[in-house]
Amino acid sequence: MDLGGTNIRVCSVDLHGDSTYNVKKSKMTIPRKLMVTRAGHELFSFIAERVDTFLKTYHPIFLNKSSYPQIISLGLTFSYPVYQSAVNSGILLRWTKGFDIPDIVGQDVCRLLQREIDLRHLPIKVTALVNDAAGTIMSRAYTLPVSSTRTSMGVIFGTGTNCVYLEKLSNIVKPMEGSYDSSTGEMFISTEWGSFDNQLSVLPNTKFDAKLDKVSLNPGDQMFEKRVAGMFLGELLRIIVSEMHTDPEINLFPAYRSNNERKINKNQPALLTRWSVDSSILSVAEADSSDRLGILRAKIEEELGIPSPLVSVEDAQAVKMITHAIGKRAARLAGMAVGAVVLKSQRLHEVKVSTEGYCEKLVDDSDLKTTIGIKADRSGISADQHTIDIAVDGSLIEFYPNFEKYMRQAIRVIEGIGVPGEEKIHIRIAKDGSSVGAAIIALLASQQVMVSSSST
Ligand code: GLC
Repeated sequence: MDLGGTNIRVCSVDLHGDSTYNVKKSKMTIPRKLMVTRAGHELFSFIAERVDTFLKTYHPIFLNKSSYPQIISLGLTFSYPVYQSAVNSGILLRWTKGFDIPDIVGQDVCRLLQREIDLRHLPIKVTALVNDAAGTIMSRAYTLPVSSTRTSMGVIFGTGTNCVYLEKLSNIVKPMEGSYDSSTGEMFISTEWGSFDNQLSVLPNTKFDAKLDKVSLNPGDQMFEKRVAGMFLGELLRIIVSEMHTDPEINLFPAYRSNNERKINKNQPALLTRWSVDSSILSVAEADSSDRLGILRAKIEEELGIPSPLVSVEDAQAVKMITHAIGKRAARLAGMAVGAVVLKSQRLHEVKVSTEGYCEKLVDDSDLKTTIGIKADRSGISADQHTIDIAVDGSLIEFYPNFEKYMRQAIRVIEGIGVPGEEKIHIRIAKDGSSVGAAIIALLASQQVMVSSSST
């Protein structure tokens, strides 16, 4: 079960144990009324209902106790800051990505979901709580051959942004409560880097960033995320472009303005409506390099509500320049953050120079609704021992052209990394990794419970 910033996904994963798996999945946009509400239980009731419907549709046999007496192990991907004191429990610290349900803050989200599942008498136990970036590492690691490198970082560049990395236990100085397995000498750390530099001592801060922060649900918080993640980049563009349109000295979209002056338009266009612009416009603008920018002009109509005959080529060029500045800044900031974690993890000194190049996409069958086999990514086996393997997921890294290229440009100029260090970094997309990774962790967690209960 994967609760992200935009979608809710339920999937069942059949792990074959040889780097391959089958998956069945269903996805739904989270209804807005469940994201900002006083009635917290409604969200978890909705999630449990989705799980119930999924089982009825894809696995009705699991609901028949006499033919299937086992309990199903569920991993909950919950991509919000939590205080996690065990693999299957975590207290929500605060909401991010447009959620605001005050009475869930401070509560154990696994217990809340289990309660709703039990109310429906479903044969399910929530055995793992997983951040999406951690899930992404696990799914990437699972698809790599055992002899290959270890994936040591998982990064999300989607609606929100975050990084989880493997840290040596000896480097963790903070007192840790709860139960954990110390036998490997390592632990995943969720950096929650979305709230890096909330005090803005190093992040760039334009008047447009300040305006966006002011109208957000969490002013002063998630300042890095507000400059890097998909949830905010469309709105940032809208703020800039609307100011350029209303300022008579700049007069962006002049044909639209004079058209409006003639025919008093009662409907407020998306251009002037908060949070109405999807960040996918950035990818379209970056990708359209045609002379007349026809695709971008159509997208401006779709996203900003300005009819494309009223958008001149010059207007579209201006939008393209602005989206490029927003996207490139986001990618460079992202590169800076990845570089910082690479340095912190001290793994650069543990690997030799790789001969391999850039990002390769994992085998991707994104539209699948029924079972299919997903092949293991066996590319680059020989070179993998020499690399820092980073699993990534999210719409920006997947769809924004050159996101990785601009990230790498920034990584290369970081002192202590340089070109040789940057070449050791492999960035691989683990599509839907957060959901599959949660299933892997849920399985491991349920096996641990079985081992510990059989040894007592
Ligand atoms: C937000 C959440 C974080 C999550 C990230 C990506 O920053 O706080 O937990 O991993 O979005 O979805």
